[in-house]
Amino acid sequence: MLVVASVLSVVLLVGFLGSLLLLLRWNRRYPEPRLDWTKVDTEVVRFPKGFLWGVATSAHQVEGGCDNNNWSQWEKQSAPDGTPRISGGQNSGAACDHWNLFLEDLDLIRQTGAGAYRFSLEWSKIEPRPGRFDQAALDHYHQVLDALNDRGIVPMATLHHFTHPLWFERLGAFEKEENIPHFVRFCERVFSEYQGSVRLWCTVNEPAVFATMGYLMGIFPPGRRDPGQAAHVLRNLLLAHAKAYHALKHLPGGESASIGAVKNIFQLDPHRRWYLPDWLLARVGDAFYNEAALHYLRTGTFKFSLPGVLKLQTMELEVMGSLDFIGLNYYSHVNVKLLLNPRNPVSYAARPGDTMTDMPYAIYPEGFKRALHRVSTLGVPIYVTENGIADSRDDRRAQFIRRYLYSMYRAMEDGCDVRGYFYWTLMDNFEWAEGYDMKFGLFHTDFVTQKRTLRRGSRELSRIIREKTGSTNQSQ
Ligand code: BGC
Repeated sequence: MLVVASVLSVVLLVGFLGSLLLLLRWNRRYPEPRLDWTKVDTEVVRFPKGFLWGVATSAHQVEGGCDNNNWSQWEKQSAPDGTPRISGGQNSGAACDHWNLFLEDLDLIRQTGAGAYRFSLEWSKIEPRPGRFDQAALDHYHQVLDALNDRGIVPMATLHHFTHPLWFERLGAFEKEENIPHFVRFCERVFSEYQGSVRLWCTVNEPAVFATMGYLMGIFPPGRRDPGQAAHVLRNLLLAHAKAYHALKHLPGGESASIGAVKNIFQLDPHRRWYLPDWLLARVGDAFYNEAALHYLRTGTFKFSLPGVLKLQTMELEVMGSLDFIGLNYYSHVNVKLLLNPRNPVSYAARPGDTMTDMPYAIYPEGFKRALHRVSTLGVPIYVTENGIADSRDDRRAQFIRRYLYSMYRAMEDGCDVRGYFYWTLMDNFEWAEGYDMKFGLFHTDFVTQKRTLRRGSRELSRIIREKTGSTNQSQ
């Protein structure tokens, strides 16, 4: 009897430990999925005929002459300790002078082999004063759209890409729900103007980045560090998206228009597998940065709470069903680690052996597949509206492109409904708080002569577009 009991307890113990190990996926070195890239054949990729290949920019980053929006004001300021807001005290200024050079730039798109262009309409140029629309600015974007359509390039227009007029900023922008109608009025006006020429519309770009950088970390305008305000701004921006979506759907041409929002996914993975605080930290960060928006779009409920600090829960059914597609911007992930340093409590350090981009994050193609699966839960088609690398030496770009596109291909094989991919970005441009230091461009930009030169690493994108699209072993 005693022997049976001891055998039974040993079996139970082994079983328990076994399931525990399985649960913790002991075979993995790190909590997040990682591939051994030396064993991966990235050449197996195939993309369906009709897959939309594009490049992306945003107005403030390329046009030049944006001197009436929240960023132009921010670029002139310094932090209370005297540090300029933009690295090295730079400002966007003439940027790539894309406002004047757009015809040449649209020819560059063709050179890359891409057939679509994601760009944004600069609200501050179109509506410099509340309710007063500038005809010259409206005409300008007509010319851009005509030139795109003449070249057979599919336009995707973004309505809010981090910038808005100063008058809107002074009203409190998206801090206040009552300001949303101003945004909707702008959207209605430009939609009525351009709906015949634009194939795809993005309402808002990366609400979580806008809220985190501007209201939690204080790195973007208006430079606040207030979790409560950040949560409200995130919610209001998503609500603004939904209100704009429904308003546009009711306009002539609205029913057949394709309108979506752009979500950036940046995974927060725990740094240490065995340390619960790292997991909790990752969980809370993810809840704000990724899940709050996805949940709101799925269910119409916005909820975010930080125990003892804030609790926000609202329900707006109009947010549910406000997407014809979801735009995914994906760059990387971070590994979060809780530090015992009250002034600097979180580390975002990469793993040993990771290849870094010039931005403070590593190349992590595995995360692209994870992100595609995650946005698939919204149940609408996906466009990858941004993906790219800051690589001033151009010694990582080609490999980045191969591996990230391989991950996208794998996600598509798993059933993710990806319809298109836009590379960030066409040419080096104004990278927000980093100024002109970050080189994300397929083309190098000489900011003195405005000469653009194709980078060697960028040719990998053209090769994959050319060789791997429309082949027969992928359903169409
Ligand atoms: C933004 C772009 C930015 C890019 C690279 C995205 O968060 O939408 O405007 O330039 O990332 O950092």
